[in-house]
Amino acid sequence: MFGKIKQYIYNKTKFGRTRYLNYLYQYDLKQYFDNSLMGIGEEKKLATQIRLLAHAIEKGFSLSVPKPGFGKKKIIELVYLYEKYKLYKNPEDDQIRDVVFATLNAYIQFQKSNNIDISFIPEQYRQNGKNDIKAGTAYYKLLENNNFAEIAYARHSSRCFSKKSVSEYTIKEVIKLAQTAPSACNRQATRVYACINSHKIDEIMKMHGGLNGFDKPSVIFAVTGDLNLYQNEFERNTVYVDGGIFVMNLLYSLNAFNILSCPIIWGSEPDMDGKLEHLLEIPHSHKIVALVVAGYPKEKEYKAAISAKREVERILYYVR
Ligand SMILES: Cc1cc2nc3c(=O)[nH]c(=O)nc-3n(C[C@H](O)[C@H](O)[C@H](O)COP(=O)(O)O)c2cc1C
Repeated sequence: MFGKIKQYIYNKTKFGRTRYLNYLYQYDLKQYFDNSLMGIGEEKKLATQIRLLAHAIEKGFSLSVPKPGFGKKKIIELVYLYEKYKLYKNPEDDQIRDVVFATLNAYIQFQKSNNIDISFIPEQYRQNGKNDIKAGTAYYKLLENNNFAEIAYARHSSRCFSKKSVSEYTIKEVIKLAQTAPSACNRQATRVYACINSHKIDEIMKMHGGLNGFDKPSVIFAVTGDLNLYQNEFERNTVYVDGGIFVMNLLYSLNAFNILSCPIIWGSEPDMDGKLEHLLEIPHSHKIVALVVAGYPKEKEYKAAISAKREVERILYYVR
């Protein structure tokens, strides 16, 4: 009996609901504090600091008129941080070396072409070593036959899928395309867990509750954000912004491969997080942003809700 009363207070009264909300915020706060730069160990901290610095330097190149000689302090700091990072054997972020050297190469080339002294950069960092990635700037052409309107108006959330499986190769291509999404400071914190295990898909459908009546999808993507890549209080919501933008790109990317999809809400309640983390082996340092269910259509034409949009005048405010 007491259980029911307690449940009622929790679910129906303002007191109960604000208490529960407060509990969820405390859960988010602890997860963010423990796993962002505010709480993590040095190796991960260094990797994030290096990526952010490299981006800050690259940004300097992308201005209309980059200032010759800019970024000296940042380059010194980059080298200093990398000196510490390279002491770690088998670093988790094994792209850091390439990020540092690509940034330095671009910086040195730019400053040299402006006759700026770069002797403050240690000799061993001035070598043009082999590098898998590039930094600096490039010139990109604007598209002439831009058909984005066609693509955008053709996307609809679908809850009907065929039984055809989506190959791992296709999933990889889909995610590669979705990686064109922008992210804050290009830190690319978003991670994707593509669940193609039939039993686990059933488990997720059972535990979620919001998937009742859906056809069984061939893939369930859990889109997460690695909190290790966020710095401070100011960035507490950025994981959702980065993740949300990525999800949108993922939906378009799936459509580009003729795969239907529907984004699925994730409330990030401790119990639910725990279950999904366990099922998909997601570390608790990742914030689960949303799920996306996906599968091939049954026929060429597929059924979807119309989901009418508001009139544009109702959401747009000109500030003149
Ligand atoms: C963050 C988010 C969570 C969603 N969660 C669910 C969900 O749990 N179940 C569902 O059937 N649809 C879900 N949807 C799909 C929306 O209902 C759908 O996007 C909306 O009706 C607009 O339709 P459209 O995607 O076809 O434009 C979600 C969409 C978003 C963006």
